[in-house]
Amino acid sequence: MELCFGWFLLVASIPAIFAQDISHGSIVVDGTMTVAQTDDNFVCATIDWWPHDKCNYDQCPWHYTSVMNLNLSHPFLAKAIQAFNRLRIRVGGSLQDQVLYDVGNLKSPCHPFQKMKDGLFGFSKGCLHMERWDELNRFFKETSAMVTFGLNALHGRHKIKRSLWGGDWDSSNAQDFMKYTISKGYQIDSWEFGNELSGNGIGAHVHADQYGKDLVNLRKIINELYKGSQSKPSLIAPGGFYDEEWFVKLLQTSGFGVIDVMSHHMYNLGAGVDPKLVSKILNPDHLNKAAYTFGNLTHIIRRHGPWTSAWVGESGGAYNSGGAHVSNTFINSFWYLDQLGMASKYHTKVYCRQTLIGGNYGLLNATTFVPNPDYYRQELEI
Ligand SMILES: *[C@@H]1O[C@H](CO)[C@@H](O)[C@H](O)[C@H]1NC(C)=O
Ligand SMILES: *[C@@H]1O[C@H](CO)[C@@H](O)[C@H](O)[C@H]1NC(C)=O
Ligand SMILES: *[C@@H]1O[C@H](CO)[C@@H](O)[C@H](O)[C@H]1NC(C)=O
Repeated sequence: MELCFGWFLLVASIPAIFAQDISHGSIVVDGTMTVAQTDDNFVCATIDWWPHDKCNYDQCPWHYTSVMNLNLSHPFLAKAIQAFNRLRIRVGGSLQDQVLYDVGNLKSPCHPFQKMKDGLFGFSKGCLHMERWDELNRFFKETSAMVTFGLNALHGRHKIKRSLWGGDWDSSNAQDFMKYTISKGYQIDSWEFGNELSGNGIGAHVHADQYGKDLVNLRKIINELYKGSQSKPSLIAPGGFYDEEWFVKLLQTSGFGVIDVMSHHMYNLGAGVDPKLVSKILNPDHLNKAAYTFGNLTHIIRRHGPWTSAWVGESGGAYNSGGAHVSNTFINSFWYLDQLGMASKYHTKVYCRQTLIGGNYGLLNATTFVPNPDYYRQELEI
C-alpha cells in the first residue's frame, strides 16, 4: 500500500468542520511520487493478556478481554475484524513474558494469572491451555486475521538486580508450543520475541547481547520447525521502546538475516491519567516529537540492519491502559491518524493499535463490544 493520502485529506478537513466560520481550503496531492511503502496489511490491532482485575488507580477497564477469556463468540467481535478484510492481530502485552504454554514437557500446573504482590506487574505467571489456543485459532481463521504472537522471552531467566534479568532464555516451552501450532496447521504470520524488555525495560530488561544470542537460537528453532513448510513466519523483535544503543547492539549481536522486523512501542502521550491528555493530542508540536523516534529507527536500520524493516508493534498513545473518555473517543483520532501517517512516511510497514478491545483505548467497547462511539466507525468508513 502506498502512503495513504486519504488520511491526510480527512485530517485536513476536520478544522473546517469544527470552525464556526466555515472556510474552504484545498490540498493538492502529488500522487506520482511514492514517499514510502507500507505493508499491504498496515493496520493492526492488539489483544492483550491483562485479566479483568488489572486496575490503574480506581479503574479496571479491561473486563473480560484477555487472550485467555475474551468472548470469541460475540458476533460484533468477528464482524469488526472481518470489516477490515485482513486485519493484523498482535497477541501480546506486559504479561506475555510470564505466560506458560500447557503443552509438551511443561512440568508446572496450568493456572490463570493471579494477583501477586511481588510478581512482575503485580501478577503471577499465567498459563495458556491448548483448548483455548485451538479456539483462538478457529476464530482467527474464521475472521481471516493475520496473527503475530508474542513469545515468553523471560522464561528460564532470573532476576539479577532490580529490573535486570539474565541467563539464557529457556526455549523449550515455546518450542513445544510452536510444534503444536504447526501440527494443527495454524497459520501464524509472525512470532515476536518479548515485550518491552529493551533499553531499561518497563517491568524488566535484558541486555541486548544476551537478547541477540537468544534470537539466534530462536531463528534456528523456527528454521528447523518450519523446514519444508510452504510459508515460514517472520521473526520479530524486540517489541519494546526505542533505545538507540540497545537496538544497534541487538542488530549487531543477532547478525545478518536473523531478525526480519524491528518492532517498537509508541506511547508518546504519556500517562492515561494526565489531565493534559487532550491538549497534548491537539498540539501538533507535541505530536511531531514522535518523528525523532521514527527517524532514528529508520536511520539505524539502514545503517546496521538493512535486512529488517520497522513495525510499531504496540501503540496506545497514552500508557497505563489509556485515558478514560479520551483514548476511546473521537478526539483520539487526532493522535491516531497523525501516527498512522507519520509512521508510514518513515517506512513503518505495520502499525498495531493498542487495543482491538480492552483498556480505555479499545477500538471496541470492552463490555458491549460495540465500536466506540464517533470514533472507530469513522475510520471504518474510510
Ligand atoms: C458470549 O457472547 C454471546 C453472544 O453475545 C453470548 O450469548 C454468550 O453468553 C457470551 N458468553 C459469555 C461466556 O459471556
Ligand atoms: C534522532 O533524534 C534526535 C533527537 O533525539 C534528532 O535530533 C535527530 O534528528 C534524529 N535523527 C534522525 C535521523 O531522525
Ligand atoms: C462501554 O459501554 C458501556 C455501556 O454503554 C458504557 O457504560 C461504558 O462507559 C463504555 N466503556 C467505555 C470504555 O467506553
